[in-house]
Amino acid sequence: MSNKCYITTPIYYSSGRVHIGNSYTTIACDVFARFNRLVGRDTFFLTGMDEHGQKIEEAARAQGLRPQELVDRIALETQKLWQNLHITNDDFIRTSEDRHQVVVQKIFEQLVASGDIYLGKYTGNYCVSCEAYFTKSQLGENNTCPDCGKETKLIAEESYFLRLSKYEQQLLNFIKENPDFIQPESRRNEVISFIESGLEDLSVSRSSFSWGVPVKSDPKHVVYVWIDALSNYLSALGYLSDDDSNYQKYWVNSQRVYHVVGKDILRFHAVYWPIMLMALNVPINFKLMVHGWILSKDGKMSKSRGDVVYPMDVVNDYGVDALRYYVTKELPLGNDGIFSYDRFVERYNTDLANDLGNLLSRTVSMVNKYLGGELRQDPKVVTKYDKELRDLAQKTKDNFYNYLNNFRLQLALNEVWVLINRANKYIDETTPWVLAKDESKKEELYSVMYHLVEVLRFVAVMLSVVLVESAPKMYQALGLKAEDITWDSLEFGKLANIKVIEKIEPLFVRLDPEKEQAKHQKKTEEKVDEVEKKQEITIDDFAKISLVTGEIIDCQLHPDAKKLLVLQVKIGNEVRQIVSGIREYYEPQDLIGKVVVVVENLKEAKIRGLQSKGMILCASKGDRLEVVEVKSLPSGAEVN
Ligand code: MSP
Repeated sequence: MSNKCYITTPIYYSSGRVHIGNSYTTIACDVFARFNRLVGRDTFFLTGMDEHGQKIEEAARAQGLRPQELVDRIALETQKLWQNLHITNDDFIRTSEDRHQVVVQKIFEQLVASGDIYLGKYTGNYCVSCEAYFTKSQLGENNTCPDCGKETKLIAEESYFLRLSKYEQQLLNFIKENPDFIQPESRRNEVISFIESGLEDLSVSRSSFSWGVPVKSDPKHVVYVWIDALSNYLSALGYLSDDDSNYQKYWVNSQRVYHVVGKDILRFHAVYWPIMLMALNVPINFKLMVHGWILSKDGKMSKSRGDVVYPMDVVNDYGVDALRYYVTKELPLGNDGIFSYDRFVERYNTDLANDLGNLLSRTVSMVNKYLGGELRQDPKVVTKYDKELRDLAQKTKDNFYNYLNNFRLQLALNEVWVLINRANKYIDETTPWVLAKDESKKEELYSVMYHLVEVLRFVAVMLSVVLVESAPKMYQALGLKAEDITWDSLEFGKLANIKVIEKIEPLFVRLDPEKEQAKHQKKTEEKVDEVEKKQEITIDDFAKISLVTGEIIDCQLHPDAKKLLVLQVKIGNEVRQIVSGIREYYEPQDLIGKVVVVVENLKEAKIRGLQSKGMILCASKGDRLEVVEVKSLPSGAEVN
């Protein structure tokens, strides 16, 4: 059986910054790739960028850049992020690269030639932001996008279509015959009912924008998003190129091809992609591992609430291992998980600092104190506690393997923590500090310490796929050699001639939850302020606002509203009425005579029954507020 393994993340949109939620797919794949390498498989791990589309074209224009310049910049930033998270991808494919575009063009032409792609007409409401068409019944109020709420555009255009309908039954049969094709089962059922409700042919080209792969035989069209994006999984392997050896090795002849995707892009991978492959006569030998979303406590992370978390913020404060551990532990396959700093700090303290960190530091300190830091070989004496711990270590290794082998990352980690906690309990049961006082218990003491170090060796090797910085520290602390940390060496009792480190630093320094909470509360508030401040406008936008000085010549309380004042403001020769919510800060008579700044061209409105035209500018901070005053200019002066 081939030991080749091919693991892919989705390619990331070049439109936004990768946040902790979308970094999950890549971290999860990295854990999986490291595991596959650890158990001896020749593993190719791919990630990359999805760089085409109208949204990117427009974003580049808004920034005065060419689309290529914008995506180059984002690709660089994203690659740097992956390096910082210790992601071990073997390749980084970008859809704007020639090696990819050439393959997309060949695939497209091949499908046109086979009749699987045909020219038709598309009419629909299109959302630029989501890059998706919506049917009338899906649209929100005033034809807005049901996903992001922005305005959609009604577009009618010539478009090429992929004949999904032709493959409906064939795909359904395939999914039914291959129960592990889509995992977990709940997602598989979702796909089956989607197909059973009937597949409509898919629009796969656009002529309304140009930032995309041109259709070779009809270059006024560009290949539209999914054919372009999905083909990356093959183009990166050299499919349809002069050297397709990787395609042969890691796709055709591999029994382990995994696409790991979030639930939002399930349909594209479970329906469009296999149909493309059927039409191309490429074997569908991948498995689809579908994970849920990382949410904030209040649902989807949102910039305006200030709860979008970026991976490097966590890494800079707590280290890369803490982040990798948290996200891996948080998401059961298929379901959503939560990121909150409270939860994060709790997991960090309990699992990493206490359970794991203490087990290591207690063990190393005791080996130093009681045995001069040395262990020779498997001990002669085995007590009842020893046997239980031994058996559990061996069983943990097997369970860990079975879970990770099936991409059940969270369950695999749970197993390791059962072993860690058992080992901590074992210390309390065997009380080495009591044994150390009794010369006749020397062998027993040796046995206890040996068992602890062996368990820690198992733990370190298993956790090396997640804790990329701490596992090597554990190896060093325990004095393990290269041959002690291979997967095959994990047989209890193999360890011999060990010298542990003399002084051990804590693996994870305990955090003070209250301090951390206060720190993050403050940061969230700052982020909200920033978002509120940061709505960028152009100089043209600013020029639309007419600001002038006006003299307040009269001011009364609003008859029906406690917080409002009714001002008469003289602007040049005109006197106008402005209703303003500043009653809490000023007595009416204190305002008379002030020359203030007024938004002159604000649309007239009725405020609690009174006409108001214009707005008086104020500065405020915390619970203080002041009108913006001009000291020596008269009313009617322009402010700009
Ligand atoms: N470009 C497409 C994929 C094309 S693949 C042929 C895309 N890109 S993305 O940048 O929006 O998403 C990348 C990955 O992040 C996807 O797996 C997506 O499901 C995942 N996530 C986005 N937000 C997420 C969370 N909040 N939590 C976990 N994963 C999430 O989709």
